[in-house]
Amino acid sequence: MEQTIRVELGDRSYDVRVGSGILDSVGPAAAALPTVRQAAVIADSNIASSYGKQTADSLTAAGIDATLIEFPTGEANKTVAVFSDMLDAVFAISPAIDRDLLIVACGGGVTGDISGYVAASTLRGVRWLQCPTSLLADVDASVGGKTGINHATGKNLIGAFYQPSGVLIDVETLKTLAPRELQSGLGECVKHAVIRDASLLDFIAENTTEILACQSDVMCDLVARNVAIKADVVAGDERETGTRAHLNYGHTVGHAIETIAGYGTLSHGAAVSLGIIAANAIAVDSRLISPVDADRVRQALEALKLPVTYPGLNPDEVWEVMQRDKKARGGHVRMVLPTEIGRVEIFDNTTPQQVARGVAALG
Ligand SMILES: NC(=O)c1ccc[n+]([C@@H]2O[C@H](COP(=O)([O-])OP(=O)(O)OC[C@H]3O[C@@H](n4cnc5c(N)ncnc54)[C@H](O)[C@@H]3O)[C@@H](O)[C@H]2O)c1
Ligand SMILES: [Zn+2]
Repeated sequence: MEQTIRVELGDRSYDVRVGSGILDSVGPAAAALPTVRQAAVIADSNIASSYGKQTADSLTAAGIDATLIEFPTGEANKTVAVFSDMLDAVFAISPAIDRDLLIVACGGGVTGDISGYVAASTLRGVRWLQCPTSLLADVDASVGGKTGINHATGKNLIGAFYQPSGVLIDVETLKTLAPRELQSGLGECVKHAVIRDASLLDFIAENTTEILACQSDVMCDLVARNVAIKADVVAGDERETGTRAHLNYGHTVGHAIETIAGYGTLSHGAAVSLGIIAANAIAVDSRLISPVDADRVRQALEALKLPVTYPGLNPDEVWEVMQRDKKARGGHVRMVLPTEIGRVEIFDNTTPQQVARGVAALG
Protein backbone atom coordinates (compact mmCIF):
# COMPACT_ATOMS: atom_id res chain seq x y z
CA MET A 1 0.00 0.00 0.00
CA GLU A 2 2.93 2.38 0.65
CA GLN A 3 3.66 4.75 -2.21
CA THR A 4 6.65 6.98 -2.86
CA ILE A 5 6.61 10.18 -4.86
CA ARG A 6 9.90 11.81 -5.83
CA VAL A 7 9.96 15.61 -5.71
CA GLU A 8 12.49 16.49 -8.42
CA LEU A 9 14.46 19.58 -7.41
CA GLY A 10 18.00 18.80 -8.56
CA ASP A 11 20.37 18.27 -5.64
CA ARG A 12 17.52 19.14 -3.24
CA SER A 13 15.25 16.35 -4.51
CA TYR A 14 13.52 14.24 -1.89
CA ASP A 15 10.94 11.48 -1.46
CA VAL A 16 7.44 11.76 -0.07
CA ARG A 17 6.35 8.40 1.38
CA VAL A 18 2.63 7.84 1.83
CA GLY A 19 1.38 4.86 3.78
CA SER A 20 -0.66 3.45 6.61
CA GLY A 21 1.21 3.28 9.93
CA ILE A 22 4.46 4.75 8.63
CA LEU A 23 4.82 7.27 11.44
CA ASP A 24 6.67 4.46 13.21
CA SER A 25 9.21 4.47 10.35
CA VAL A 26 10.44 7.97 11.11
CA GLY A 27 13.21 6.59 13.36
CA PRO A 28 14.73 4.35 10.67
CA ALA A 29 14.25 7.13 8.07
CA ALA A 30 16.14 9.60 10.28
CA ALA A 31 18.84 7.05 11.10
CA ALA A 32 19.39 6.53 7.37
CA LEU A 33 20.44 10.20 7.01
CA PRO A 34 24.21 10.53 7.49
CA THR A 35 25.47 11.66 10.91
CA VAL A 36 22.12 12.37 12.59
CA ARG A 37 22.45 11.81 16.34
CA GLN A 38 20.03 14.33 17.81
CA ALA A 39 16.54 15.35 16.82
CA ALA A 40 14.04 18.01 17.87
CA VAL A 41 10.46 16.92 17.25
CA ILE A 42 8.16 19.94 16.95
CA ALA A 43 4.43 19.38 17.52
CA ASP A 44 1.51 21.55 18.59
CA SER A 45 -0.36 21.20 21.88
CA ASN A 46 -3.20 19.18 20.27
CA ILE A 47 -1.04 16.32 19.14
CA ALA A 48 2.27 16.54 21.02
CA SER A 49 1.22 13.84 23.49
CA SER A 50 -0.07 11.51 20.75
CA TYR A 51 1.67 11.73 17.36
CA GLY A 52 4.49 13.92 18.68
CA LYS A 53 5.38 11.34 21.32
CA GLN A 54 4.97 8.47 18.84
CA THR A 55 7.44 10.23 16.54
CA ALA A 56 9.93 10.88 19.33
CA ASP A 57 9.64 7.25 20.51
CA SER A 58 10.38 5.97 17.01
CA LEU A 59 13.50 8.16 16.85
CA THR A 60 14.65 7.02 20.30
CA ALA A 61 14.17 3.36 19.30
CA ALA A 62 16.42 4.02 16.29
CA GLY A 63 19.19 5.30 18.58
CA ILE A 64 18.59 9.02 18.05
CA ASP A 65 18.43 11.34 21.04
CA ALA A 66 14.99 12.97 20.57
CA THR A 67 13.58 16.03 22.34
CA LEU A 68 9.90 16.93 21.96
CA ILE A 69 9.20 20.66 21.60
CA GLU A 70 5.55 21.61 22.08
CA PHE A 71 3.97 24.93 21.06
CA PRO A 72 0.40 26.22 21.41
CA THR A 73 -1.86 25.10 18.54
CA GLY A 74 -3.35 27.32 15.87
CA GLU A 75 -2.64 29.87 13.18
CA ALA A 76 -2.56 32.63 15.82
CA ASN A 77 0.68 31.09 17.08
CA LYS A 78 2.52 31.11 13.75
CA THR A 79 4.38 34.14 15.06
CA VAL A 80 7.84 35.60 15.55
CA ALA A 81 7.37 35.11 19.31
CA VAL A 82 6.62 31.38 19.04
CA PHE A 83 9.41 30.98 16.45
CA SER A 84 11.80 32.65 18.91
CA ASP A 85 10.64 30.34 21.75
CA MET A 86 11.32 27.37 19.47
CA LEU A 87 14.87 28.50 18.75
CA ASP A 88 15.40 28.85 22.52
CA ALA A 89 14.13 25.29 22.98
CA VAL A 90 16.39 24.01 20.18
CA PHE A 91 19.51 25.66 21.65
CA ALA A 92 18.54 24.39 25.12
CA ILE A 93 18.88 20.78 23.88
CA SER A 94 22.62 21.02 24.14
CA PRO A 95 25.06 23.91 24.46
CA ALA A 96 26.98 22.36 21.60
CA ILE A 97 24.24 21.98 18.98
CA ASP A 98 25.79 21.26 15.61
CA ARG A 99 24.60 20.79 12.07
CA ASP A 100 23.99 17.10 12.73
CA LEU A 101 20.78 18.11 14.52
CA LEU A 102 17.62 17.01 12.73
CA ILE A 103 14.35 18.95 13.00
CA VAL A 104 11.22 16.80 12.69
CA ALA A 105 7.91 18.56 12.06
CA CYS A 106 4.93 16.53 13.24
CA GLY A 107 1.54 18.13 12.68
CA GLY A 108 -0.53 20.32 10.39
CA GLY A 109 0.55 23.10 8.06
CA VAL A 110 1.27 25.54 10.87
CA THR A 111 3.74 23.09 12.42
CA GLY A 112 5.34 22.35 9.05
CA ASP A 113 5.74 26.01 8.11
CA ILE A 114 7.20 27.16 11.41
CA SER A 115 9.41 24.06 11.91
CA GLY A 116 10.79 24.35 8.39
CA TYR A 117 11.74 27.93 9.12
CA VAL A 118 13.40 26.86 12.38
CA ALA A 119 15.37 24.28 10.35
CA ALA A 120 16.31 26.88 7.71
CA SER A 121 17.44 29.35 10.38
CA THR A 122 19.27 27.14 12.87
CA LEU A 123 23.00 27.35 12.10
CA ARG A 124 21.98 28.64 8.62
CA GLY A 125 20.24 25.38 7.86
CA VAL A 126 19.96 21.92 9.42
CA ARG A 127 18.17 18.96 7.92
CA TRP A 128 14.49 18.41 8.56
CA LEU A 129 11.90 15.72 8.06
CA GLN A 130 8.23 16.45 7.71
CA CYS A 131 5.54 14.19 9.15
CA PRO A 132 2.33 16.00 8.19
CA THR A 133 -0.81 14.90 10.04
CA SER A 134 -3.58 17.06 8.53
CA LEU A 135 -4.94 16.53 5.01
CA LEU A 136 -4.07 20.12 4.09
CA ALA A 137 -0.47 19.56 5.18
CA ASP A 138 -0.37 16.19 3.37
CA VAL A 139 -1.53 17.42 -0.04
CA ASP A 140 -0.39 21.04 0.02
CA ALA A 141 1.85 22.44 2.75
CA SER A 142 4.32 19.53 2.82
CA VAL A 143 5.33 19.88 -0.83
CA GLY A 144 7.11 22.87 -2.29
CA GLY A 145 9.54 24.07 0.35
CA LYS A 146 7.74 27.22 1.45
CA THR A 147 8.41 27.73 5.14
CA GLY A 148 7.71 30.65 7.40
CA ILE A 149 5.59 32.57 9.84
CA ASN A 150 3.07 35.42 9.88
CA HIS A 151 3.71 39.08 10.63
CA ALA A 152 1.15 41.53 12.03
CA THR A 153 1.10 43.07 8.54
CA GLY A 154 -0.10 39.86 6.92
CA LYS A 155 0.09 36.09 6.59
CA ASN A 156 3.30 34.27 5.57
CA LEU A 157 5.32 37.47 5.13
CA ILE A 158 8.46 36.10 6.83
CA GLY A 159 10.10 32.92 5.62
CA ALA A 160 12.37 31.00 3.32
CA PHE A 161 12.26 28.42 0.58
CA TYR A 162 13.81 25.43 2.31
CA GLN A 163 13.35 21.82 1.19
CA PRO A 164 13.07 18.93 3.67
CA SER A 165 15.21 15.79 3.47
CA GLY A 166 12.04 13.74 3.26
CA VAL A 167 8.33 13.61 4.00
CA LEU A 168 6.49 10.74 5.71
CA ILE A 169 2.71 10.81 5.48
CA ASP A 170 0.82 8.39 7.71
CA VAL A 171 -2.80 8.40 6.54
CA GLU A 172 -3.90 6.76 9.81
CA THR A 173 -3.44 10.14 11.49
CA LEU A 174 -6.28 11.56 9.37
CA LYS A 175 -8.78 9.48 11.35
CA THR A 176 -8.54 11.83 14.35
CA LEU A 177 -8.82 15.00 12.30
CA ALA A 178 -11.87 17.24 12.92
CA PRO A 179 -14.32 17.34 9.96
CA ARG A 180 -13.59 21.05 9.42
CA GLU A 181 -9.86 20.29 9.06
CA LEU A 182 -10.54 17.41 6.66
CA GLN A 183 -12.64 19.82 4.61
CA SER A 184 -9.67 22.20 4.36
CA GLY A 185 -7.59 19.57 2.59
CA LEU A 186 -10.43 18.38 0.37
CA GLY A 187 -10.77 21.83 -1.20
CA GLU A 188 -7.15 21.54 -2.37
CA CYS A 189 -7.75 18.01 -3.71
CA VAL A 190 -10.55 19.20 -5.98
CA LYS A 191 -8.35 22.14 -7.01
CA HIS A 192 -5.53 19.78 -8.03
CA ALA A 193 -7.94 17.63 -10.04
CA VAL A 194 -9.28 20.60 -12.00
CA ILE A 195 -5.87 22.11 -12.74
CA ARG A 196 -4.10 18.89 -13.77
CA ASP A 197 -6.02 15.60 -13.72
CA ALA A 198 -9.62 14.94 -14.81
CA SER A 199 -9.34 11.29 -13.74
CA LEU A 200 -8.64 12.45 -10.16
CA LEU A 201 -11.99 14.23 -10.20
CA ASP A 202 -13.63 10.94 -11.21
CA PHE A 203 -11.74 9.12 -8.45
CA ILE A 204 -12.94 11.67 -5.89
CA ALA A 205 -16.54 11.52 -7.13
CA GLU A 206 -16.52 7.70 -6.99
CA ASN A 207 -15.05 7.54 -3.48
CA THR A 208 -16.66 10.33 -1.49
CA THR A 209 -18.02 8.01 1.21
CA GLU A 210 -14.63 6.37 1.72
CA ILE A 211 -12.88 9.74 1.68
CA LEU A 212 -15.19 11.25 4.29
CA ALA A 213 -14.60 8.15 6.45
CA CYS A 214 -10.80 8.42 5.87
CA GLN A 215 -10.64 4.80 4.70
CA SER A 216 -6.92 3.94 4.61
CA ASP A 217 -6.50 2.56 1.06
CA VAL A 218 -8.50 5.33 -0.53
CA MET A 219 -6.69 8.01 1.48
CA CYS A 220 -3.30 6.59 0.44
CA ASP A 221 -4.32 6.87 -3.21
CA LEU A 222 -5.92 10.29 -2.76
CA VAL A 223 -2.93 11.75 -0.92
CA ALA A 224 -0.34 10.17 -3.24
CA ARG A 225 -2.11 11.44 -6.38
CA ASN A 226 -2.36 14.94 -4.93
CA VAL A 227 1.24 15.01 -3.77
CA ALA A 228 2.31 13.93 -7.27
CA ILE A 229 0.39 16.82 -8.83
CA LYS A 230 1.73 19.42 -6.42
CA ALA A 231 5.26 18.01 -6.78
CA ASP A 232 4.99 18.21 -10.55
CA VAL A 233 3.78 21.82 -10.49
CA VAL A 234 6.47 22.84 -8.02
CA ALA A 235 9.28 21.00 -9.83
CA GLY A 236 8.39 22.95 -12.97
CA ASP A 237 8.52 26.29 -11.17
CA GLU A 238 10.17 26.16 -7.75
CA ARG A 239 10.20 29.93 -7.11
CA GLU A 240 6.70 30.74 -8.32
CA THR A 241 7.45 32.72 -11.46
CA GLY A 242 5.11 30.95 -13.86
CA THR A 243 2.92 27.86 -13.80
CA ARG A 244 3.10 27.49 -10.00
CA ALA A 245 0.45 30.23 -10.07
CA HIS A 246 -1.95 27.52 -11.30
CA LEU A 247 -2.16 26.49 -7.66
CA ASN A 248 -4.03 29.74 -7.03
CA TYR A 249 -7.07 28.39 -8.88
CA GLY A 250 -10.08 28.91 -6.60
CA HIS A 251 -7.98 31.09 -4.31
CA THR A 252 -8.49 34.64 -5.70
CA VAL A 253 -12.21 34.89 -5.00
CA GLY A 254 -11.75 32.29 -2.23
CA HIS A 255 -9.28 34.46 -0.29
CA ALA A 256 -11.54 37.49 -0.72
CA ILE A 257 -14.49 35.57 0.76
CA GLU A 258 -12.26 34.25 3.57
CA THR A 259 -11.32 37.87 4.38
CA ILE A 260 -14.87 39.25 4.13
CA ALA A 261 -16.28 36.45 6.30
CA GLY A 262 -13.60 37.27 8.91
CA TYR A 263 -10.44 35.18 8.76
CA GLY A 264 -11.03 31.82 10.47
CA THR A 265 -14.84 31.92 10.13
CA LEU A 266 -14.86 29.67 7.08
CA SER A 267 -12.45 26.75 6.84
CA HIS A 268 -9.83 27.35 4.16
CA GLY A 269 -11.31 24.47 2.15
CA ALA A 270 -14.79 25.99 2.33
CA ALA A 271 -13.43 29.29 1.01
CA VAL A 272 -11.55 27.49 -1.78
CA SER A 273 -14.69 25.55 -2.69
CA LEU A 274 -16.63 28.82 -3.06
CA GLY A 275 -13.72 30.29 -5.03
CA ILE A 276 -13.80 27.30 -7.39
CA ILE A 277 -17.52 27.74 -8.00
CA ALA A 278 -16.99 31.45 -8.75
CA ALA A 279 -13.99 30.79 -11.05
CA ASN A 280 -15.91 28.12 -12.94
CA ALA A 281 -18.92 30.43 -13.41
CA ILE A 282 -16.58 33.02 -14.93
CA ALA A 283 -15.04 30.32 -17.14
CA VAL A 284 -18.49 29.19 -18.33
CA ASP A 285 -19.47 32.81 -19.00
CA SER A 286 -16.28 33.30 -21.03
CA ARG A 287 -16.99 30.05 -22.93
CA LEU A 288 -13.80 28.43 -21.65
CA ILE A 289 -15.57 25.38 -20.19
CA SER A 290 -19.04 23.91 -20.65
CA PRO A 291 -21.80 24.16 -18.05
CA VAL A 292 -21.66 20.34 -17.90
CA ASP A 293 -18.01 20.39 -16.79
CA ALA A 294 -18.70 23.12 -14.23
CA ASP A 295 -21.53 20.98 -12.90
CA ARG A 296 -19.25 17.93 -12.53
CA VAL A 297 -16.96 19.94 -10.29
CA ARG A 298 -19.88 21.35 -8.29
CA GLN A 299 -21.24 17.84 -7.73
CA ALA A 300 -17.88 16.60 -6.44
CA LEU A 301 -17.63 19.54 -4.02
CA GLU A 302 -21.19 18.98 -2.79
CA ALA A 303 -20.61 15.25 -2.33
CA LEU A 304 -17.58 16.12 -0.17
CA LYS A 305 -19.88 18.36 1.90
CA LEU A 306 -18.03 21.49 0.83
CA PRO A 307 -20.18 24.64 0.46
CA VAL A 308 -21.15 25.78 -3.05
CA THR A 309 -23.29 28.79 -2.12
CA TYR A 310 -22.65 31.89 -0.05
CA PRO A 311 -25.58 34.29 -0.42
CA GLY A 312 -25.44 37.96 0.44
CA LEU A 313 -21.94 38.73 -0.88
CA ASN A 314 -21.45 42.23 -2.24
CA PRO A 315 -19.57 41.89 -5.58
CA ASP A 316 -18.03 45.37 -5.22
CA GLU A 317 -16.56 44.39 -1.87
CA VAL A 318 -15.21 41.13 -3.31
CA TRP A 319 -13.60 43.08 -6.16
CA GLU A 320 -12.08 45.59 -3.78
CA VAL A 321 -10.58 42.88 -1.55
CA MET A 322 -9.24 41.02 -4.60
CA GLN A 323 -7.38 44.16 -5.70
CA ARG A 324 -5.74 44.45 -2.30
CA ASP A 325 -4.43 40.87 -2.54
CA LYS A 326 -0.63 40.76 -2.70
CA LYS A 327 -0.90 38.61 -5.83
CA ALA A 328 -2.80 41.34 -7.74
CA ARG A 329 -0.14 42.96 -9.94
CA GLY A 330 -0.27 46.68 -10.72
CA GLY A 331 -4.00 46.91 -10.11
CA HIS A 332 -4.66 44.00 -12.49
CA VAL A 333 -6.56 41.12 -11.01
CA ARG A 334 -5.15 37.81 -12.14
CA MET A 335 -7.33 34.72 -12.14
CA VAL A 336 -6.62 31.11 -12.97
CA LEU A 337 -9.52 29.65 -14.94
CA PRO A 338 -10.13 26.17 -16.34
CA THR A 339 -10.18 25.65 -20.09
CA GLU A 340 -11.21 22.02 -19.56
CA ILE A 341 -11.19 19.72 -16.53
CA GLY A 342 -7.50 19.02 -15.94
CA ARG A 343 -6.21 22.22 -17.57
CA VAL A 344 -6.08 25.85 -16.52
CA GLU A 345 -4.69 29.11 -17.86
CA ILE A 346 -3.76 32.42 -16.26
CA PHE A 347 -5.87 35.45 -17.18
CA ASP A 348 -4.34 38.76 -16.19
CA ASN A 349 -7.12 41.25 -16.77
CA THR A 350 -10.15 39.99 -14.94
CA THR A 351 -12.90 42.64 -14.97
CA PRO A 352 -15.23 43.65 -12.13
CA GLN A 353 -18.11 42.46 -14.32
CA GLN A 354 -16.61 38.97 -14.50
CA VAL A 355 -16.14 38.88 -10.74
CA ALA A 356 -19.75 39.98 -10.27
CA ARG A 357 -20.78 37.06 -12.50
CA GLY A 358 -18.76 34.68 -10.30
CA VAL A 359 -20.25 36.11 -7.12
CA ALA A 360 -23.78 35.81 -8.57
CA ALA A 361 -23.18 32.06 -9.00
CA LEU A 362 -22.79 31.80 -5.22
CA GLY A 363 -26.16 33.42 -4.48
N1 LIG B 1 4.02 25.83 3.03
C1 LIG B 1 3.04 25.76 2.17
O1 LIG B 1 3.26 25.58 0.98
C2 LIG B 1 1.63 25.85 2.66
C3 LIG B 1 0.57 25.49 1.81
C4 LIG B 1 -0.71 25.55 2.33
C5 LIG B 1 -0.93 25.97 3.61
N2 LIG B 1 0.12 26.32 4.40
C6 LIG B 1 -0.10 26.76 5.78
O2 LIG B 1 -0.67 25.68 6.50
C7 LIG B 1 -1.43 26.21 7.57
C8 LIG B 1 -2.75 25.49 7.62
O3 LIG B 1 -2.50 24.12 7.83
P1 LIG B 1 -3.49 23.23 8.68
O4 LIG B 1 -4.87 23.44 8.20
O5 LIG B 1 -2.94 21.85 8.74
O6 LIG B 1 -3.44 23.97 10.10
P2 LIG B 1 -2.91 23.49 11.55
O7 LIG B 1 -1.51 23.08 11.49
O8 LIG B 1 -3.26 24.58 12.49
O9 LIG B 1 -3.81 22.22 11.87
C9 LIG B 1 -5.19 22.39 12.04
C10 LIG B 1 -5.63 21.81 13.38
O10 LIG B 1 -5.67 20.39 13.25
C11 LIG B 1 -4.96 19.80 14.34
N3 LIG B 1 -4.45 18.53 13.85
C12 LIG B 1 -3.47 18.34 12.93
N4 LIG B 1 -3.36 17.04 12.67
C13 LIG B 1 -4.27 16.39 13.42
C14 LIG B 1 -4.66 15.02 13.56
N5 LIG B 1 -4.10 14.06 12.82
N6 LIG B 1 -5.64 14.72 14.43
C15 LIG B 1 -6.24 15.69 15.17
N7 LIG B 1 -5.93 17.01 15.06
C16 LIG B 1 -4.96 17.34 14.19
C17 LIG B 1 -3.92 20.80 14.73
O11 LIG B 1 -3.51 20.60 16.05
C18 LIG B 1 -4.68 22.11 14.52
O12 LIG B 1 -5.43 22.41 15.67
C19 LIG B 1 -1.55 27.69 7.33
O13 LIG B 1 -0.71 28.38 8.23
C20 LIG B 1 -1.07 27.88 5.91
O14 LIG B 1 -0.46 29.13 5.70
C21 LIG B 1 1.39 26.26 3.95
ZN1 LIG C 1 -5.18 26.77 -0.30
